Amino acid sequence: MTVCDTLIRGAAVIDGTGGSPIQADVAITGERIAAVGDLQNYASQQEVDAAGKILAPGFIDTHTHDDISVIRSPEMLPKLTQGVTTVIVGNCGICAAPVQLKGNPPEPMNLLGDAGDFRYPTFASYVAAIQQSRPAVNVAALVGHTALRNNHMGSLDRVATAAEIKLMRGQLRESLDNGAIGLSTGLAYSSASSSSTEEVLQLAELLAKAGGVYATHMRTEGQAILQAMDEAFQIGRNSRVPVVISHLKCAGIDNWGRSGEVLRTFDAASLGQDLGCDCYPYDASSTTLSANHVDERVKITITWSTPHPEMGGKTLSEIANLWSVTQTEAAQRLMPAGAIYYIMSEDDMRAVLRHPKTMIGSDGLPNDPRPHPRLWGTFPRVLGYYSREQKLFPLSEAVHKMTGLPARRFGLSDRGLIKENYKADLVVFDAGKVRDAATFENPIQPAEGIDHVWVNGILSCSGGVSCGPKAGRFLARN
Ligand code: ZN
Ligand code: CU
Repeated sequence: MTVCDTLIRGAAVIDGTGGSPIQADVAITGERIAAVGDLQNYASQQEVDAAGKILAPGFIDTHTHDDISVIRSPEMLPKLTQGVTTVIVGNCGICAAPVQLKGNPPEPMNLLGDAGDFRYPTFASYVAAIQQSRPAVNVAALVGHTALRNNHMGSLDRVATAAEIKLMRGQLRESLDNGAIGLSTGLAYSSASSSSTEEVLQLAELLAKAGGVYATHMRTEGQAILQAMDEAFQIGRNSRVPVVISHLKCAGIDNWGRSGEVLRTFDAASLGQDLGCDCYPYDASSTTLSANHVDERVKITITWSTPHPEMGGKTLSEIANLWSVTQTEAAQRLMPAGAIYYIMSEDDMRAVLRHPKTMIGSDGLPNDPRPHPRLWGTFPRVLGYYSREQKLFPLSEAVHKMTGLPARRFGLSDRGLIKENYKADLVVFDAGKVRDAATFENPIQPAEGIDHVWVNGILSCSGGVSCGPKAGRFLARN
C-alpha cells in the first residue's frame, strides 16, 4: 500500500498532449503528480471521487493583463474559477516591471492600474512582490517594449535613440536574468507605433541566448495585416526566437473573410520558423478607447471613462446622440476610456480558434469595472460552447490548446501535462455541464461545471469557491 497526499479516483483523464481521454486514477504527493494509472494499492486521507468527470492539467491563460492583479487581488477568482492555474502576464507591450513612471502611465499601460500601482523599478522587485503576495495561480511574465520605452524616453512619438535602446536592453537583460520568459510589443498603440522594426530587433536579439519568446500585438490587425505579420516573422527570423502572434484576428468590417488568407500566410511562414498564436473565443475585442478606431458601422460599448464615468455601459452611438456630436467627437470627450469593439466576424474567429497552433488566451482586463466577458468566461466557453455544443474540435484538443501546447511554447517544462513527476496543477470538470456564465450584459459571473482546481498540489477551488492556502508561484523561464 502506497500512501499519497491526495488521490483522485475514476476520472476520464485528458493528459494535455491532445490524446483521447483514458480512465485512470491520479495520486498527488507534495506539489507533484506521484502516479497515474490503476492505483488500487494507493491510499490517501484525501480521496476525491471524480467518476464521470474529466481530469485535465490546470489551464494556462497565455494572454493576460493580470500583472498588478496577481499582487492586489491574489485570490485571482476570475481565473481560478475557470480552472486556470497559470497566467502569462506582460502582454501587448505593457507590464508592471521593470517600470519607473514619470507621471501617469501612458495608454494602454493605464489598463493595468493607476500610477500608484506601478511600484517595481526592477524585474527582481516584481518577482519578490509576487513571492510575498502569493497569488492563487502561478505567474510567468513577459517584459513589455512600451514599458521599456516609457522608462527611458521623454516622448513616445518617435524611434528610440541608440542611447535609449542601450538602456532598454540593460533592463531587458536584468529581467531575463531574473526569469522573464520573453518580450512583448504593442505596436498598434500610439505609445509604440513610432518605433521601428530595427528598434524592436535590437531588443529581441537578447532573447535567443536566454531562450525567450517574442509575443506581439502587431502593428495592425486591419487592412495591412499581412505586412504586420511579415514584420513579426522578420523579427523572429533575424533574432532567431519563436514568435507568438497575440490575439490573432481580422479586425474591422472591411477585413472580414480574410482569415483563410491570414492563416495560409501563417502556415507558410511556420515551415521556416517557430510560430504560435493565441485567441480568445469572442467576436468583440476590448481595449482603451481610441478616436482613430471609431467606425460608425461598428457597435462600440464604453466600459469606463475617466471624465464621464456615468457613460459606462452605454454605446458610443447612444452617447453621440445624447450629446448631438459625431461618434469621433464623443470618443475624444470620453478619453481616457475603455471600450468593447464588435469588430470581428464569428467565422474568422472560429477559423483562428480551430487552427492547430492556436493557444487559448483570455486577454481579460481585470481592472475594468465592466469587463469584457472573456475575463471570467474564456476557458469554459472554449470547452462548453465551442467544443461540446458547436463541435469545433474534440474536447481533448480544446484542453491541449490550454495546457500542453502553451506549456511547451513558453518553456514551462514540468507543467501542462498529466504525467508522473509533473507539477500537480489540475482541474476536475464536468464535460456535460461546463459553460461560461459571463455575458456582455452581465460579465462578472463565475464559470459553471468546474468542480475542483489544484495548484502545485494544493486544492485551491471547489464548487466555484476558493479554498485552502493560495498556492501559486512565480515561474521563471527554464
Ligand atoms: Zn493586445
Ligand atoms: Cu492584450
